[in-house]
Amino acid sequence: MVAKTQLPTAHRSGLPRVTVVLALLFCCLVFAGCADNSANMLNAAGPAAEKINTLWWFMFAVGGVVYLVVMGYMLLALFRRRSDSEQAETPREGTSIVVWGGAIIPGIILAITFGATVFTMGALNQPETANDLVIEVTGNQWWWDVRYPGFGFRTANEIHIPVGQPVAIKLHSEDVIHSFWVPKLHGKLDMLPGQVTEFWLEADEEGVYLGECAEFCGIQHAKMQFLVIAMEPEAFELWVADQQQPARQPRDTMAQEGQRIFLDSTCINCHRIEGTDATGELGPDLTHLASRRTLAAGTVPNNRGNLGGWIVAPDGIKPGSLMPPTPLTGAELQALLTYLETLE
Ligand code: CUA
Repeated sequence: MVAKTQLPTAHRSGLPRVTVVLALLFCCLVFAGCADNSANMLNAAGPAAEKINTLWWFMFAVGGVVYLVVMGYMLLALFRRRSDSEQAETPREGTSIVVWGGAIIPGIILAITFGATVFTMGALNQPETANDLVIEVTGNQWWWDVRYPGFGFRTANEIHIPVGQPVAIKLHSEDVIHSFWVPKLHGKLDMLPGQVTEFWLEADEEGVYLGECAEFCGIQHAKMQFLVIAMEPEAFELWVADQQQPARQPRDTMAQEGQRIFLDSTCINCHRIEGTDATGELGPDLTHLASRRTLAAGTVPNNRGNLGGWIVAPDGIKPGSLMPPTPLTGAELQALLTYLETLE
C-alpha cells in the first residue's frame, strides 16, 4: 500500500519523467568516456603526464570558480527586482563591473594560466635524468614504424620501454602530418614529413599504455593506434635480445610451404622478414610478427582468424588501407598463416 502511494520524486515535483531519463542518459554518455582506463590522461602513469595533469586540474579549478561566479551574477540579474529609485541611479556601478569583470580580472586569470602553461612546457622539455636509449617512430598512413637504432632492429605498432627510465623518442612522418600521443605518459607531439621532432617517454609502472594518432590524417585516422609496453629492465633486455634475432626457419612442412608462398608472393615488395629474401621497407617489419598483440595498428587482436582476414581482405578490417588483398586458395592461406605464426 505504502509503495503505491509514494510517487517518484520527479513526478511529484512536476518534472517530466522523460526529462529525467534524458538527463540520466546524457550523464551515462558523458561518463562512458571515463570507462576505458587505458588512455585516461587524468590517470597519469609517468612524470610528464603528472605535470600535465597538475596543470589540467589547476585550469579546471580556475575555470570552475569563474563559471560559478558568472552563473551567480546571471541568476542575480534574473531574479533580483530593483526598486524604481535604484533604476534611476547613474550607471557607474554597472560600468565598474564591466571593467573589472570583463577586462581586469580575466586579464589577470589569463596571465596566470599562461604563465603556468609556459612553466609546465619548460618542465616537460627535458627528462630529469639522462638517457641513452633512443627510439625512432615514423608515422605512416595508418601504422607506426618503430626502430631501435642502438640495437639494430625494427618493429611496428608496439613500443617497448624499460620502466622508470626516460627514453628519447624521435618522431617523423613518411606522408602526412600525424601526432604521437600516449595520454597516460605524455602530451601530444606532431610528426612531420621532412622534419624530426623529439621528446621523451617515461612510465612509472609496468603496464600496457594505449597510444593513438591525435591529428586527422585520412580515412583511417581513428584506426591508427599503438601500444607502449613498459617492462622491468631485465625483461626489456630479454625482449631486445629476442627482437635482435633473425626470424626462425620453419621446421614443419606446412610452415615451410607457407614460407615458400610468402616469398613467391607480392608480400615481399613491402614487408621484411630478417633472415629471408623478403626485404621490403614500405610496410611493417614482420620478423617477429607473432610476438605482437595487435594487427593493423591496434585495429584487431593478433590471432589466426584476424590475420587470415587481414591478408585476403584488408579493406574488410580497415577500409582504405594501403595493403592490397592477396588472393590465395584456402590451403595456401592456411599454410601461410602457419608460417607467420612461427615468427615469434
Ligand atoms: Cu595518423 Cu591520424
